[in-house]
Amino acid sequence: MSDWDLLLTDVRIATLRGGATDYGIAEGSTALAVRDGRIDWIGDSSRLPVRRAGKTRSLGGRWITPALIDCHTHIVFGGDRAAEFEQRLQGVSYQDIARAGGGILSTVRATRDATAEELFRAALPRVQALAREGVATIEIKSGYGLDLETEIRMLEVARRLGTETSMDVRTTLLAAHTVPPEYAGNADGYIDLICNELLPQVAERKLADAVDAYCESIAFSTAQIAKLFAAAIKLGLPVKLHADQLSDGGGAELAAEFKALSADHLEYTSRKGVRALAASKSVAVLLPGAFLTLGETHVPPVGELRANGVPIAVATDCNPGTSPICSLRTAMMLACRLFRLTPEESLAGATRIAAQALGLADDRGTLEVGKRADIAIWNISHPRELAYWTGTPQLAELLAGGQTSAP
Ligand code: NIG
Ligand code: FE
Repeated sequence: MSDWDLLLTDVRIATLRGGATDYGIAEGSTALAVRDGRIDWIGDSSRLPVRRAGKTRSLGGRWITPALIDCHTHIVFGGDRAAEFEQRLQGVSYQDIARAGGGILSTVRATRDATAEELFRAALPRVQALAREGVATIEIKSGYGLDLETEIRMLEVARRLGTETSMDVRTTLLAAHTVPPEYAGNADGYIDLICNELLPQVAERKLADAVDAYCESIAFSTAQIAKLFAAAIKLGLPVKLHADQLSDGGGAELAAEFKALSADHLEYTSRKGVRALAASKSVAVLLPGAFLTLGETHVPPVGELRANGVPIAVATDCNPGTSPICSLRTAMMLACRLFRLTPEESLAGATRIAAQALGLADDRGTLEVGKRADIAIWNISHPRELAYWTGTPQLAELLAGGQTSAP
């Protein structure tokens, strides 16, 4: 019988496992053992098998949950858009700013002007801020380069953030974020560039784990994105979509057609779109930070998603334009307050369902035997507090693969 590397005793465990009620709370006085970075045993301490553990720690009755997962971020970018925030507060719309050459394109200019080192240095504290609140896995999108060189630079910086910190980073190619100035009036030509040149290079160098696009009147049509998705899938890359954020453009249906990992935003998704998502088993990723920052009032169809059994994740969408929010705890709280998720749904949305949105459901997102020992240890009296407080230093410690992780 082999030894354990780590044994946590006197813990209260919210497993968040699928199908469980009440946060999947394990009854009684529980313990959890880790071997080779994975959970090897969970259960009542009275049934603990006799084994040697490299290290045993009594946690004094502290709560543990799966480490949090932020499944939608644009955390690598140059500059900021605080001036646009001021303009929007004066009543100018996001779409009008975009049509006047600002919005995503203003971040594209700043990102193209930044070196890889500058992008890394700017993103690092944001990644650390997420780690400090219990996040062990994040997704990072490109999408502020919109040319071969800068899209690749962004993905390389994202990969480096994963290798030089204890954060596990999954990368997404979002070259189809908006039409770059060089292709103004020729969105089809830009989609061809992505399909024929950028995607093959990115796939060959394994720089991206998925491909995303922005389906909206100010970005790309369903036909253009269908072409891109077909090319991505041919190269073995799963897809996901920024869908129906500002209008119902059939984004959810398109995501479902391509069996997307997730369809994200969904403020304007129709019933038909929800039913399509249910059939495709795609995750609905809700981004309340963008909803709040844009002053949006049209709420995603949460009741319909629930009724149709569509799994719901919650993410920060951290980006300089629509969601300057670098706190998953804040997004969880906003998802409850603005979208009426329950605190339990919100926590599941930032753990188990977020893992599913990244194609990692079998690997992490719950505390179950066989899963990665990504564990958040909290100073809280109940897991419902995690979608209630924000800005409070309640994380006692974060374990990534069973190792104490320094933010
Ligand atoms: O998720 N909707 C498009 N993409 C981002 C916004 C990017 C930006 O405005 O810089 C989003 O909201
Ligand atoms: Fe986004």
